[in-house]
Amino acid sequence: MNSPAHSPITNGLLCAIRSNPMNKGRFITLEGGEGVGKTSALTVLAQTIRDRGIDLVVTREPGGTPLGERLRELLLGSWNVCPEAELMMIFAARVQHVQEVIGPALDAGRWVLSDRFVDASYAYQGGGRLLPKEPIRMLEELAIRDMQPDLTLLLDAPVEVGLQRVNHRGPLDRFESAGLGFLERVRAAYLQRAREFPDRICVVDAGRPPEIVLGDLVTTLNDRFANDFGYCG
Ligand SMILES: Nc1ncnc2c1ncn2[C@@H]1O[C@H](COP(=O)(O)OP(=O)(O)OP(=O)(O)O)[C@@H](O)[C@H]1O
Ligand SMILES: [Mg+2]
Repeated sequence: MNSPAHSPITNGLLCAIRSNPMNKGRFITLEGGEGVGKTSALTVLAQTIRDRGIDLVVTREPGGTPLGERLRELLLGSWNVCPEAELMMIFAARVQHVQEVIGPALDAGRWVLSDRFVDASYAYQGGGRLLPKEPIRMLEELAIRDMQPDLTLLLDAPVEVGLQRVNHRGPLDRFESAGLGFLERVRAAYLQRAREFPDRICVVDAGRPPEIVLGDLVTTLNDRFANDFGYCG
């Protein structure tokens, strides 16, 4: 027998509520160091979410808007960018992304899946570039306020593993070529964020074969959003 929460009538009501623009969408982010498999995972996760009939926006940082994509080109180029300029450029791209893409999508009841978000600044500009946390926190407050992800999937693997995976792609970008010490600090700072926000950030061991990693990610997604997925599934 159907429980009240799963009766056809309740299902119908909940589906109506979910597609109501007054109902905010879910915000999911993928994080991790160079070459851990974020972008590969994004495709599978997006398909999993869309298979549930959910209207999903897939995006990335830095980027996601015309301004953000220009800033991304500048950030990944080989010229000298001091850490403070890097931090402000990333947040310039981020605040535009939040106001132009993420906020409106969530307000319209759409879901958003982003390849990196604010944790990346704590990891790269805080951990990697050794900038103090306070200015990052202040920029976070200014740029995103309470728009924290509902779930962050942190792909974690040894730095050498990630670098090996991206090495065959050709010349390394400014972050990939910043040195092992930099990348180790990025990894440590990401793991520190996961300890600080254990309810939001889920660490997945990305050093394993792709099918195992992807299986774990999909299971985590299904568990975390069982209610959203279950009612209309
Ligand atoms: N679990 C895995 N095992 C082995 N190879 C993998 C795994 N996951 C991804 N790869 C491969 O590693 C390479 C890097 O993956 P991907 O581009 O998804 O990483 P990324 O985290 O998005 O990298 P970047 O930090 O450069 O954006 C790709 O060639 C991908 O096919
Ligand atoms: Mg990528």
